[in-house]
Amino acid sequence: MRKASRSAASILDRLCAAVKPGMNTLEIDELGGDIMSDFGVKSACKGYRSGHRIFPSYTCLSVNDEVVHGIGVKNRVLKDGDIISVDICIREDGMIGDNCRTIPVGNISSEVERLLRVTEESMYEGIKKALHKNRVGDVSHAVQRHVESAGFAVITNFVGHGVGHSLHEDPQIPNFGKTGTGPKFKKGMAICIEPMVNMKSSQIRMAADGWTALAVDGMPSAHFEHTLLVDEENAEILTFPDGFENADDFISHRMGIAV
Ligand code: MF3
Ligand code: CO
Repeated sequence: MRKASRSAASILDRLCAAVKPGMNTLEIDELGGDIMSDFGVKSACKGYRSGHRIFPSYTCLSVNDEVVHGIGVKNRVLKDGDIISVDICIREDGMIGDNCRTIPVGNISSEVERLLRVTEESMYEGIKKALHKNRVGDVSHAVQRHVESAGFAVITNFVGHGVGHSLHEDPQIPNFGKTGTGPKFKKGMAICIEPMVNMKSSQIRMAADGWTALAVDGMPSAHFEHTLLVDEENAEILTFPDGFENADDFISHRMGIAV
């Protein structure tokens, strides 16, 4: 899990660094596929089945009001002021690493900047509760509380998840809920915590492509995700990129504070 997660994080980091205004999302997806080959790993998204549908892209790329599971297409060209969620999910030596970050394209408004910051913070609030003998609802509640106290809305149609040999394992980890409820965590469980946050409405609708989820309020939507191991004192965040000694160094780089 550590190896697959480090690769997933390093691929995410490299791909995010390459995103520029004027690129289309098909190019970004193909670059993501190339970086995966450089790392000698396979996309866990491409070929993913949901009912009769098969996911066609290496990565999930969701622009502005696209919440999750966007597909790379030639006619979606990024422009200054957009945001894009880059979700990288790979398989290495039989194990899954899954992580996502929403990044600005050029200059974004201060309100959208706040959305990104609050969503990323809410992920870390949740991670703080992913401890041995705590319950799933403790994580869910921490995420929801942080998001709602900032005036934003958590999406209820999609959830975080257990992870390991398969992308989606038990338990489901909603971004809303009550403390003290739900399944109990145990040291060593591998989970993905992934808040998806809209500015106004928590509701989504499906795009015509059958995969892309759209915010019904039509406003920008953010998504951050880490893969981590539950532990006694502090969860062990596995998805930190090459160039960082440990997850704490990566978090202080991202958030500008020691967490
Ligand atoms: N991080 C996403 C998730 O946990 C990856 C989805 S892959 C897809 O759902 F193929 F379903 F898009
Ligand atoms: Co996930």
